[in-house]
Amino acid sequence: MASWDLLITDARIATMRRDVAGFGIIENGAIGIRDGVIDWVGDATEATQQPARATLSLGGQWITPALIDCHTHLVFGGDRAAEFEQRLAGASYEDIARAGGGILSTVRATRAASADELFEAALPRLDALIASGVTTIEIKSGYGLDVDTEIRMLEVARRLGDASGVTVVTTLLAAHAVPPEFSGNADGWIDVACNELIPAAAERGLADAVDAYCESIAFDRQQVARVFDAAREHGLPVRLHADQLSDGDGAALAAGYSALSADHLEYSSNAGIKAMADAGTAAVLLPGAFLTLHETQQPPVAACREHGVPMAIATDCNPGTSPMTSVREAMALACRLFRMTPEECLAGTTREAALALRLDDLGMISAGMRADIAAWDIEHPRDLSYWLGRNPLTHLFKSGRSVSLTAA
Ligand code: NIG
Ligand code: FE
Repeated sequence: MASWDLLITDARIATMRRDVAGFGIIENGAIGIRDGVIDWVGDATEATQQPARATLSLGGQWITPALIDCHTHLVFGGDRAAEFEQRLAGASYEDIARAGGGILSTVRATRAASADELFEAALPRLDALIASGVTTIEIKSGYGLDVDTEIRMLEVARRLGDASGVTVVTTLLAAHAVPPEFSGNADGWIDVACNELIPAAAERGLADAVDAYCESIAFDRQQVARVFDAAREHGLPVRLHADQLSDGDGAALAAGYSALSADHLEYSSNAGIKAMADAGTAAVLLPGAFLTLHETQQPPVAACREHGVPMAIATDCNPGTSPMTSVREAMALACRLFRMTPEECLAGTTREAALALRLDDLGMISAGMRADIAAWDIEHPRDLSYWLGRNPLTHLFKSGRSVSLTAA
């Protein structure tokens, strides 16, 4: 019998298995890990038969799948704290964007930053996310809006993954805003995105997916469709910032392209959510942006439940609408703002987030899954959404190896 590299024992486990209700709890559980993979999980009394090179006894602490942040804009230059103050004084996000601020102000700062500067600026944000229990993160481009800077952002995202050891999934957000050079000519930028940027990113293996922002202050359905057609031509799956500020029928548009996910969704119609269910498109709900923009339109949680659309939750970490660097904060907000249950919130940052990224071997504790595991000093997994502030994370493993919690 081959020995395990690590046996974690004396743990209570929230497996988050899809086929087991109520967090999928195993009391007095143990996990045997070999070659970075969960080899065995079950009752601790049955685990002692097998030799293990190392044992970690958790004294009854809880284990969950390590958390996954499936929607971030982690790489950017500068910040937008001054705009935050303007909005508190009454200016709207759309007003600021139309006046050349908003996303375009971050574009100016990002273009002016070197790759090293972008990397150094992103690292503490990544450390903070890791300290909140994250071992997998999606990072979008979208603040370059020229070919060179978009490519630079994606390279920095890949480098962050290499340097930190966490899994980084990259998304080319070519159609995020109309770049200043194309002011009044959004289609001109879509031409460049389709004919130069998507091919360049695809050829260099820098993008795992393509995203777009379908909104009155960004791109319309036809323009998004052109971007998605180009992505498809280059074998890249798509996701969409959809119906965040108005109902642009983005959910149905995303579903029409079998998008991996449609994100935000506050204004999506019931028909849009039904289309997502039929297409297997996950919903990604972003309470940090909802809170920061003082949004009052609730995302369609009831429709997602009714139609069986998986709901992921993410930070949307970005300098404009969601300066947030803790996935647990996103969970806590989703409960309070969207009335999602703590179980839905933990599923939303584990198995449903894995689904939104199509990472089949992550997001659940079961044999055959990668050993991405978090241990917590809590009384029950619902506490992860209940408490604000204190960080109860005690151990974090990526593929069975301990991750250092520098920002804990
Ligand atoms: O997910 N909605 C568009 N994109 C971002 C915001 C980007 C920004 O304001 O810098 C979002 O909310
Ligand atoms: Fe976003």
